[in-house]
Amino acid sequence: KPLTVGIVGAAFSGGQPRGGVEQGPARLVEFGLIDQLKGLGWNVDFDEKFPTYEDFKPQTENKHKILKNVGHVASVTKSVAESVQKVVEKGHLALTLGGDHSLAMGTVGGSAAVHKDVGVIWVDAHADINTPLTTDTGNLHGCPVSFLMGLEGTKEVTELDWLKPCLAANRIVYIGLRDVDAPEKKILKDNKIKAFSMHDVDKHGIGKIVEMALEYLGRDKPIHLSFDVDALDPSVAPATGTPVRGGLTFREGHYICEALYETGNLVAVDIMEVNPMLGEQSYVLQTIQIGCSLARTAMGESLL
Ligand code: ARG
Ligand code: MN
Ligand code: MN
Ligand code: MN
Repeated sequence: KPLTVGIVGAAFSGGQPRGGVEQGPARLVEFGLIDQLKGLGWNVDFDEKFPTYEDFKPQTENKHKILKNVGHVASVTKSVAESVQKVVEKGHLALTLGGDHSLAMGTVGGSAAVHKDVGVIWVDAHADINTPLTTDTGNLHGCPVSFLMGLEGTKEVTELDWLKPCLAANRIVYIGLRDVDAPEKKILKDNKIKAFSMHDVDKHGIGKIVEMALEYLGRDKPIHLSFDVDALDPSVAPATGTPVRGGLTFREGHYICEALYETGNLVAVDIMEVNPMLGEQSYVLQTIQIGCSLARTAMGESLL
C-alpha cells in the first residue's frame, strides 16, 4: 500500500449551480485533515500552492446546448486529471478534495490513465450518468460517468474531448443510489452496470454489499473510490447541494472506506460535494468533520 498520499485540491463548483462547494477543499484542510493523515503515519504531499477558487475561476461562461459551463468544467477536469495521474504514477495514493462531482471526469480520468484495469466504487445517492441527451438540469456533476464511458452524445461535446473514454461499463460499481433519473435507469440497465441501491443495502447489509462489489471488480484490481457525501443520509451529512432522504448511516459510510482500505488496493479516493455554505454552522461543521473522517478511514484509521 502507498505510504505517501498526494492531495489534490479541487476548489470547483462549475458542475452545478450552488455556490460554496468550491470552498470544500480549503475547509477540509483548515479543519486539520493534513495533520490527521500525518498522524496515521502517512507522508503527505500537499502542494504549497494549493489550488484555490481563483485558480479555477471561469474564463468564459459557455454552454453546449443544455450543458452548462462546459469549457470551465473541461479545463478544470483536465488539470485535475493531470494532477491525479502524476500522483498515481508515482505509486502514491491520490486524495482529491472537491468540489462538485463533475471533477470525477478528472480524477477517474487520471487514475485510469495509469491503471487501465482500475475498478471504480462510486458511492452516491445519484448515478451521475446522464448524457448530454438525457440531462434535464444541464449540470455536469450529474454527467461525469457518461463522459468517462463515452456514452451516446458525449463525443459531440468537443470542449471535453481531452477526455477519452477510459471506463468500461463493467469497471464501476455503485453503492447508495436512491435518486436516479428515469433515463439514467435505462442507461444502467442497457449497459448492465452493477448498482447497489439503498434497497440493496437494506436487504444485504453493507458488509455483504462491499464484498459483492469487490468480488465483481476483482480482488486484486486497483480501486478508485469516488465518494459523494450526499450518499450519506442528510441527517448525517447535511451540507451538500443535492441531499436525498434515506441514505447511508454514519457507520455504513465509514464501513465502506474501512473495508476498501483493508484491500490494500486503493489508488485514488475522492471526497466530493461538501458545501460549507449550505445550512447552519453546526451542520456545516458536522459535514466537514465527516469529510475528514471518511478520508481518514479510507486511509487506515480503525476503531481498534
Ligand atoms: N440527476 C440529477 C442531475 O442530473 C442530480 C445529479 C446530482 N449529482 C451530484 N453529483 N450531486 O442533475
Ligand atoms: Mn450525489
Ligand atoms: Mn434530474
Ligand atoms: Mn455525485
